[in-house]
Amino acid sequence: MAKKAKKAVKAKTKSKTKKPVKKAAKAARRPAPKIVARKAATRAAPARAKMSTKGWGKDGKALDGVKILDFTHVQSGPTCTQLLAWFGADVIKVERPGTGDITRGQLVDVPGADSLYFTMLNHNKRSITLDSKSKQGMAVLERLVKTCDVLVENFAPGALDRMGLTWERIHSWNPRMIAASVKGFGPGAYEECKVYENVAQCAGGSASTTGFLDGPPLVTGAQIGDSGTGLHLALGIVSALYQRNRTGRGQKVLCAMQDSVLNLCRVKLRDQQRLKAGPLREYTQFGQGIPFGEATPRAGNDSGGGQPGVILKCKGWEQDPNAYIYFITQAPVWEKICDLIGEPGWKTHPDYAKPPARLPRLKEIFGRIEQWTMTKTKFEVMNECNALDIPVGPILSMKEIAEEPSLRATGTVVEVDHPTRGKYLSVGNPIKLSDSISEVKRSPLLGEHTDEILTKVLKFSAREIAEIKASGATGQAPPKAVAAE
Ligand code: COA
Repeated sequence: MAKKAKKAVKAKTKSKTKKPVKKAAKAARRPAPKIVARKAATRAAPARAKMSTKGWGKDGKALDGVKILDFTHVQSGPTCTQLLAWFGADVIKVERPGTGDITRGQLVDVPGADSLYFTMLNHNKRSITLDSKSKQGMAVLERLVKTCDVLVENFAPGALDRMGLTWERIHSWNPRMIAASVKGFGPGAYEECKVYENVAQCAGGSASTTGFLDGPPLVTGAQIGDSGTGLHLALGIVSALYQRNRTGRGQKVLCAMQDSVLNLCRVKLRDQQRLKAGPLREYTQFGQGIPFGEATPRAGNDSGGGQPGVILKCKGWEQDPNAYIYFITQAPVWEKICDLIGEPGWKTHPDYAKPPARLPRLKEIFGRIEQWTMTKTKFEVMNECNALDIPVGPILSMKEIAEEPSLRATGTVVEVDHPTRGKYLSVGNPIKLSDSISEVKRSPLLGEHTDEILTKVLKFSAREIAEIKASGATGQAPPKAVAAE
């Protein structure tokens, strides 16, 4: 494949020098709309259009040269800065001396070692300890602000200002600085509130639309409030960096957790508005004759789109809590489903042949499909259905995911070694860039890079470093006699 692409590039370069265009290059260009293809050809200088000669992932990192002052803690902020670090940014995590990010000591499984909570959210970063409330600590922070491109923080509302790091001050120290924040809520009645994951899930519309109709609202295991907001913030930062190329100026980036959750729940706000036009016919409750209320109801495991789908039992469900499969009765493959489950008559029967006729009978239809899935393991169902293009999804446990060879092969699940906890599994970068492959490096120990950052990044002199340390700004001040040396 690489050879083919190289050939195509060669051919493209030749075409610029008016030599005949090779067949491969023609074929490679064919799917692109004409205007786009022509624009791209005129915009890209031939040298830049060439593929890297260094091979996959060997041509530097996407965010090489970007320095991040990482003032984040817990999950939302660290998710964002970890992503930026995977793409090659130099992420300098500023932590409070003694304790550091509170998650280092939360949910501890190996006594004396940083928790998995911390290690899995802080890969590829460097750590400096700094008391930001001390005079010397603020002096170091000032130098960090002047040196870095982006400051990322997710303190409680007002904490950064209370520290003295107002936007005006940051901007006056470094007009190119991008200051990115996660907060629980955007401006408004709740802007002063502290927010954690499940608060955001509830306030962002996820909990009210998750769960079964006859049960209470449910939060989901996917950390859409924390990690979801971190992802949104990373995109905001990269966009601000891109805009800075044009304006030369930094800007503030704000992601409220409520907003990010709502963005991920936008199909539920879609359904809220569709209610005006009548019942939501693809929801199981419609077929059951249960009336709809004023708000988008909880839909159990109903499919989010227009194709009805549910979770069905598979062989072994009595013992294995994850012996289930998600089954979608996609209309174009309905006839194949009928043959597979042994109901060929449904292909022509007026009650089952067409999607609108099936909607009031979904419970009965899925009941029949389940009789079939219960005779197979979830992987057998997966194999048989995929061979027929029927979309299904096995319910994979975290154990199965941890052991899945294909996830290991792509680096989505990685084993990382750590000096105090040993080997552990982590989730690598789920976003794959061919020229900027992510290596997953272990998280830093608390203050591991304090000296390195003061010396090499911030260029403090030996005397200045001695003064900073003697003040206690980077941790416990050394005994006086030593500090004086
Ligand atoms: N040196 C000195 N002080 C430091 C410091 C450092 N290096 N790092 C943090 N602090 C101080 C802060 O200045 C703040 O002090 P203040 O309250 O006197 O102004 C204090 O530590 C605590 O910060 P805070 O953010 O309030 O922590 P918290 O544990 O009370 O609250 C959250 C935690 C997550 C609820 C809160 O930070 C928050 O709402 N953040 C925004 C939303 C968010 O990201 N939530 C999801 C987290 S996964």
